[in-house]
Amino acid sequence: MSDWSPEKTQVKSWNEWDRLRHVIVGRADDCHIPPEEPALDAKVPEDSDMRGQWGRRPQETIDRANELLDQFANQLKARGIRVDRPDSIDHSKPVTTPDFHTDSQFGCMPPRDVLLTVGHEILEATMSYRCRWFEYLNYRPLMQRYWDEDPNFRHEAAPKPRLTDADYHPDYLSEKIGVEKRLQWAAEKFFVTTEEEPLFDAADVLRFGRDLVVQHGFTTNLKGIEWLRRHFPDHRVHTVNFPGDPYPIHIDATFTPLRPGLILNNPQRRLPEDQRGIFEKNGWEIVDAAQPAHNAPPPLCYSSTWLSMNVLVLDPKTVCVEKSEVYQAEQMDKLGMEVVEVDLRDAYAFGGGLHCCTADVYRDGDCEDYFP
Ligand code: NVA
Repeated sequence: MSDWSPEKTQVKSWNEWDRLRHVIVGRADDCHIPPEEPALDAKVPEDSDMRGQWGRRPQETIDRANELLDQFANQLKARGIRVDRPDSIDHSKPVTTPDFHTDSQFGCMPPRDVLLTVGHEILEATMSYRCRWFEYLNYRPLMQRYWDEDPNFRHEAAPKPRLTDADYHPDYLSEKIGVEKRLQWAAEKFFVTTEEEPLFDAADVLRFGRDLVVQHGFTTNLKGIEWLRRHFPDHRVHTVNFPGDPYPIHIDATFTPLRPGLILNNPQRRLPEDQRGIFEKNGWEIVDAAQPAHNAPPPLCYSSTWLSMNVLVLDPKTVCVEKSEVYQAEQMDKLGMEVVEVDLRDAYAFGGGLHCCTADVYRDGDCEDYFP
């Protein structure tokens, strides 16, 4: 029995799959391609059309992405899910702190990168790019509203990082590194970010009830994971790596839990054997995700073609899959999931797919121990 009602704001979500009742969907308004900065440069592939570009994204692409995001929000509403939207700040404004300066910001997409919902808490991540330092402000009106309306809501913010040059390995910033070198570094767990101070993006974290699974990579360092461990003392926090990924940022096009006992894993970024223990001991199946339907990402997109597996689970039997990702939809069908098709590819450039562009506010269910 669910105690959720649309009239009453409640914040609660313990995992990635219980029945979704209330969600935030991002907006493409005023999204910018930010100027060069260390962490971002290391993330953009050398042959990407993003290299050397910056400024406000073309208006027609913003309008198209907003049309698709609105359409997605309406699809969710039609299924009885409450949808809230952020209020975009002015991302053309430069950011200057005592420690760094950047000429513009990023956008209010995607919310999953910034907001981590764990139980009754929404935690604003430290972030690791300078252009995303103030991104939480897009969501503050919603956070204030939840705080006013739900007496059990815990609104938390992780310590803002200083993001001086000491946060980034200068080796990563040399001209051309090449994919082979990047893969070798990723296998050695040598990433662009240093261990100067705790850093994490919310999208590096997956929630499995009592367990949090966190990717160590470009956007989340070991101190960031230790910060999460101390912040959530009732959780077990597991560090994972996917050495096949030359640009390890955000876990949600790599490892996708669909329901208790079943996870999709990117076949180019398999979880190493020595990190599979808790899943294997508890009878969880980790299956290779289907191939993406596209050979390349859309123009001006930071993400890989593996946004195909960046799906949003609505309940353990229902999943939203991007409309053009026919192989992924076919696999979901075989796995016994009802597929809801969502047209979102033209919004990918704004920071990701269906999981990325949302953030949980309420899912049914309680904090279970799936790995006893
Ligand atoms: N590292 C990811 C980001 C996905 C949200 C990628 O495959 O592009």
